[in-house]
Amino acid sequence: MTKNKKVNQMWGGRFDAQPSDIMTQINASIDVDKRLYKQDISGSKAHATMLVAQNIIPAADGVKIQDGLDQILGEIEDGTFEFSTALEDIHMNIESRLKDIIGDAAGKLHTARSRNDQVATDFKLWVREACDALEAKIDSVQSTLTKLIKEHDNTIMPGFTHLQVAQPVTLAIHLDAYKQMLERDKLRVTDCRVRLNQSPLGAAALSGTGFPIDRDATAKALGFDAPQPNTMDAVASRDFATEFLFCTAQCGLHLSRLAEEIILWSTPQFGFITLSDSWSTGSSIMPQKKNPDAAELVRAKTGRLNGNLIQLMTVLKALPLTYNKDLQDDKACVFESFDVIMLCLETTSGMVDSMTVHKDKMLEAAQSGYSTATEIADWLVRELGMPFRDAHHITGAIVKVAEDKKCRLDELSLEDMKKIEPQINDSIFNVLSVEGAVKSRRK
Ligand code: ARG
Repeated sequence: MTKNKKVNQMWGGRFDAQPSDIMTQINASIDVDKRLYKQDISGSKAHATMLVAQNIIPAADGVKIQDGLDQILGEIEDGTFEFSTALEDIHMNIESRLKDIIGDAAGKLHTARSRNDQVATDFKLWVREACDALEAKIDSVQSTLTKLIKEHDNTIMPGFTHLQVAQPVTLAIHLDAYKQMLERDKLRVTDCRVRLNQSPLGAAALSGTGFPIDRDATAKALGFDAPQPNTMDAVASRDFATEFLFCTAQCGLHLSRLAEEIILWSTPQFGFITLSDSWSTGSSIMPQKKNPDAAELVRAKTGRLNGNLIQLMTVLKALPLTYNKDLQDDKACVFESFDVIMLCLETTSGMVDSMTVHKDKMLEAAQSGYSTATEIADWLVRELGMPFRDAHHITGAIVKVAEDKKCRLDELSLEDMKKIEPQINDSIFNVLSVEGAVKSRRK
């Protein structure tokens, strides 16, 4: 529960009046940034350890601070911590509670630190963990796809261009295309993590501090590769967050394309797959309906993911150095996009893993639409030494005959084809079937 009563004790000195209620409301971020509690406590513990090691605060106060922070972590995790809107954000909520618990020593924790480097540090730690979780989740969706790819190495289906039957492919190749997209999505996340892994802590408000702090020590304690070299950059920049948002948006975009195909494939018109009941819904009025809602929602979530990326880029655009309160609006979008992409990945995996594939329908569709016409043209080039453009023309004429006869290309007789090009012989039948066409591309 968030209570509203507490007066801000952090900067009381210069202020005569309380903030207005609406000011408190627009200023507070606790409902969003309470999600940073673990990172905030880790950051504070690392900072306090360093302050003691550098003889900036007494060791006895350091011990009190560490114990107090541990207690607060426990209180937050077991739900007994009382969050206060008047205390604005997670940093001041924790510091204020620390004062309740350990008294005046709590006031020493903020030596040589500002909320500006504190929040940038916390947020980076959070996004870093999110990168790890996202990478692992993408990996598990890839495993589901790998299973299906192995299963459907010989499942022939039409490949489409312009959503028209183009050439026969296998379901394995089609699904592998998504696996490859996810591989790049994963690499993008890895890369984002590498770039963000420098510590803002010690940048203080913007220009560092006169205290003899050890930024290498806090960076190391928090698992960063190094301190962020420019202190103004450290407190002002959020490109690690926009980059993460892009990673989620790009991955969501890939998932939305797969979702769209699942929706199409599950229509009676395509009939390629049936979604399991656990991943579909019924209609309240039409008893015959089974709707691919899960896939539709994955498709829709792209809107949120793209929107969040644009939101943060818009907040950052033209923002002067260094910290501005606008930056407080950097978290809700990142938290939401993380939750959304994790849900979409999980949903995609579940849906794909449990769908029934109708191989007969896929084969039938692959055989329609003269999908092996390119094979005839290639055969004419290969076997008869024809220029491709001529071969293309002759093949067009052969397709026309099949169209008139209302038959598939592999149902034409040799005579039918010889009438158009006398040099054609029996061996053309090797490439006319969809199976032959797929095989010819497997060399
Ligand atoms: N809640 C703030 C944020 O998320 C913390 C930093 C506040 N810094 C300040 N100078 N007011 O950005």
